[in-house]
Amino acid sequence: MVLYENNNFNNMKVPLSTNSLNLGTKYLGRNTLYYPEVESTNEIAISVAQNGGPEGTVIIADKQTKGQGRLQREWYSPKGKGLWFSIILKPNIDPIKVSQLTLVAAVATADAVSKVIGLSPGIKWPNDLLINGRKFCGILSEGQIGNEGIDYVILGIGLNANLDFYDFGLEIRSKATSLKIETGKHIERTQLFREILCQLEKCYETWLREGFEPIRLAWKEKNITLGQLVQVNSFQEVFQGKAIDIDNGGALIVKDKNNKIYSFNSGEVSLSTEY
Ligand code: BTN
Repeated sequence: MVLYENNNFNNMKVPLSTNSLNLGTKYLGRNTLYYPEVESTNEIAISVAQNGGPEGTVIIADKQTKGQGRLQREWYSPKGKGLWFSIILKPNIDPIKVSQLTLVAAVATADAVSKVIGLSPGIKWPNDLLINGRKFCGILSEGQIGNEGIDYVILGIGLNANLDFYDFGLEIRSKATSLKIETGKHIERTQLFREILCQLEKCYETWLREGFEPIRLAWKEKNITLGQLVQVNSFQEVFQGKAIDIDNGGALIVKDKNNKIYSFNSGEVSLSTEY
């Protein structure tokens, strides 16, 4: 494992040593491992967490060659154009609540983008961030639960900062975007990275202290899924109905045309035209 202390984060300009980043957090990112290129920051974070890496450790890379997305997809992570990082958390909570953490991360990241960029992203369940109907940020959470509860949770955040339209492959051009495309301006990544960690620490602590309800309400305020006709692909089955709520575990509640209620803990949601 290499820790690039005081190493310039390429064109991020600000050195990514934990002190000079001036984080303003208590523990998130205080131990930050920067790599110019990795296969996947989530993969490294898992091995760091398994080897005793403390809560709050962040693994960040300038490029990923095998970035992992949800549902076994690849996450395109070209050099210098995004924020590709993974955070290690070790919450002492009932493992049943662990899926709520991805919603915590989505709310925090959306808040940080609003604050720094001035655009208010919508959240598509569970944790895709969209602007003008196109996705610019996704979150992949992975974890391990042992006999004594949660061993660790990894929150892997991929945010398209400075990708251009032609950086995206043909098949995702109509669905993907970047903050640069949406604002017409180059995005200074360090400031955004810092703000995401600040907001995440804040939301994480609220969640630990007060439970899921404040996060659920914040998520609902930003969501673009509820009230919509949706198609949910879950475990190779397809459901159609109206997304009506998220429950107090973060599951999506969908009502079909026969008023039958379904609840989804995982899956892929797209807007549907049929009911
Ligand atoms: C999604 O499919 O929406 C989730 C994408 C998550 C990508 C990030 S980039 C940093 C971290 N490392 C990975 O390999 N994946 C996550």
